[in-house]
Parts: sequence; C-alpha cells; structure tokens
Amino acid sequence: MASRMGEEEKVLKDPVHGYVYIHDPLFWDLVNTREVQRLRRIRQLGTTYLTYPGGEHSRFSHALGTYEVLRRILQAFGRNGYPVEPDWARLVMAAGLLHDIGHGPFSHALEPLWGPSHEAWGERILLDPATEVHQVLAAVAPAFPGEVADVVMKRHPNRLAVSMVSGQLDADRLDYLMRDSIFTGVDYGKFDLARILRVILPLGDRLVVKRTGIHTVEAYLLARYFMYWQVYLHPVCRSGEILLRKILWRARDLTRAGRRPAAPHPALAAWLEGDALDLDGYLALDDAVVQCAIGLWQDDADPVLRDLARRLMDRRLFKYAEFPPDQDPRLYGRLEHLARERGYDPAYYLEVDATSAVYYDYYVGDEGPAGRDGALYLWDGRTLVEMSRLSRPIQGIARERQSERRVYFPESIAAEAERILGGRG
Ligand code: NI
Repeated sequence: MASRMGEEEKVLKDPVHGYVYIHDPLFWDLVNTREVQRLRRIRQLGTTYLTYPGGEHSRFSHALGTYEVLRRILQAFGRNGYPVEPDWARLVMAAGLLHDIGHGPFSHALEPLWGPSHEAWGERILLDPATEVHQVLAAVAPAFPGEVADVVMKRHPNRLAVSMVSGQLDADRLDYLMRDSIFTGVDYGKFDLARILRVILPLGDRLVVKRTGIHTVEAYLLARYFMYWQVYLHPVCRSGEILLRKILWRARDLTRAGRRPAAPHPALAAWLEGDALDLDGYLALDDAVVQCAIGLWQDDADPVLRDLARRLMDRRLFKYAEFPPDQDPRLYGRLEHLARERGYDPAYYLEVDATSAVYYDYYVGDEGPAGRDGALYLWDGRTLVEMSRLSRPIQGIARERQSERRVYFPESIAAEAERILGGRG
C-alpha cells in the first residue's frame, strides 16, 4: 500500500492541463494503488493509434485529468460564491479519479469479450475488500467505497455529484475530448476549458451554465460532434478494433477445439479455455498481455490465426464499404460466397459494423417540459432555459443521429466486394 505523504503537495505534469495538483493524501494513496497503476497499461483509445499515430495515451492520464478537472470546477465554485463541503468534494473527486477503473485491455475495443461491462468490473473493484483501492477508500469511512461506487454507477441520490462525473457537461467528457483531441492531433476537438470553468455553477442539484457562457458551451458540444465523426466512429479506427476482436475469437475457437495457441499469461489462457474471468484474472489483463499474445500468434501453426495476427502487427487492416440497412440482405450472402471462394472463412474475415451516436439528445422544443434530466440549462440569474432553445448551432445537431452501417473485408477481395455491393457484380 502507498505510504502517506507529508505536508507536501504532489504536482504532476500533464500535456492537457499543464499540471495536476494532488493536495489531499487520500488521492495520492489512490493513485498509488495497483488497480489505478494498472490503467497506465491500458490505452485510452484502443487501436486508434493505428489510424492516428499519436493516439497512444493511457487511461491513467485520463483518470488523473478527470480528477484535475473536478478539482478545478470545485475550486471555481468556491471562487464564484458557491463553496462546497470538503467531504462532498472528496467524494466527487474520488469518483472522478476512479470512474474508469474497470476498463480492460484496449478499452472499448475488446470490452465485449470479457463478460461484464467495464462499469460492472469497476463496481466490483471498488467494492471488493481485497483490492487496494477498496482498502484506501474504506479507511476514510466504511461506507465510502459504496458511496464512490454509487456516484460512478450514476445511482447516488446526490444528483449534482453524479452529473459532475457523468452528465452532459461532466469532468469525464471535458477531459477526454481535450485529451483525445490533443493526442490524436484532431484540432477541432479543442475548446476553452478555462472559460467553461468560469461559466458553470451549481444550482440546487443541477449543474447549469451562465447565459453569457452560451458560445463556450456551443464550442464544447461541437467539439464532441467533430470527435465522433473524426475519431470515435472513424471507419478505419473501427477496422482496427474489428481485426483485434477477430484475432481473439479465433484464438479462443482454436483453444476450445483442443488446439491451444500460446498464451503469455494464465489469465488469458483461462479466458481462451472459455472460463469466466475472476477479478484477479481480469486485473491481470492489460494491453501488454494481449499484444504479447498476438506477437506469438504471428507464428502459430493455424494459418488463419497467423494471418490475422500479422495483419494487425503490420497494419494491414480490412477495407470497408457502406452497407446501409435498406440494402438487399442477399448481398451479404454473396459476399460470404466470394470470401469462401477466395479462401477466407467469413467468420473471421467479414464483419458488418453498425455505429450510432447522438450529440445532444435533450432538445425539448418550444413547448417541451422544462426539467428533462440530462439537458443543459442556461441561467440568467432568474430563469433556466434549455440550451438548444437559444442556440442555433445546437439546434442543428440536437437529436441528429449519426448512423453508419458498413461491411469490412480483406483488401484482396475489395474490388469484387465493391462490385457486388454496387450492384454491378
Ligand atoms: Ni472516462
């Protein structure tokens, strides 16, 4: 367990926020737990580095950044005449630091493989008495780990605490949009965080925006819109994730068939055998374990596993074509036929991928109700107005659903696949 620090404040350099200030020994102890240190070994954006070479940053830096944004928001509340209780501030900042504690290797890219969601794993990590994170939290008060878990799981009765960690304008998003934009180099994901801190304030159980801050928050919502198009749902980023999953499924299918590919860690070996992971096993998995396995599988006896592993290592990603839902479903059968004909098992070489995002889902219209949970409200000192009523740009993206459906296939059959999908085959 981490040692207590003296009076000295810890200051960490951070390319997004300049510095992260840790004044309270509780947070330094949390940072030094095994479970938080593990986040150094998990990339924030999965395989996005295969598309944006700079996108290599870790969940650890995002956890610290989320904590730092919350620390600054709470400090700004105090400066603006809304001082908060120190115990409440600790709860909010602890939840911010730990909100992604349950992420596994390659973050969202491999999440469907490990059984429970990253939120559910996170809750187990916070509540299990055997984890260092739990022990540090429980030393504050026996009920504290449960309270932190309640904020992270969005079920804490204190709605303000919940919305500051995960809401429409929360510290999590404020950090990851800035961080992902800076590390990928996608410049239009940036916005003026320092000014956002000056225009948000707590009003009852809600976080609201001063009316004068409307353009600052518009820029933030538009940054989110651009980041979805350019990074989170980028078709080439998706292609890397698809290939990564196919590799692990192939390795697992081979293991179950009695042909055991090398597994560099017993936890991964157990997962390949088809066992559900226990908490220790899950915590043992990180990007390095998975990447080491894929490195070994480049020379596996199985030609499919070997080929898929080499494709990822050498960045020979699958190509894609639009495959809208109203497309003739028989075309997929023709793609399967084509793949088989060319020696590709469709289970490992074809994938239909549907993505969807809504940028601002709370437009209530002129007649709509005033209090919809999750919406952003502008405050002029007397009345609250839902943001999209006053903002043309937000009206423009409110409720817009970006839906894409694509089919992925190896490059060597791309020309024929496109002919089939274009109706010319
Ligand atoms: Ni997060």
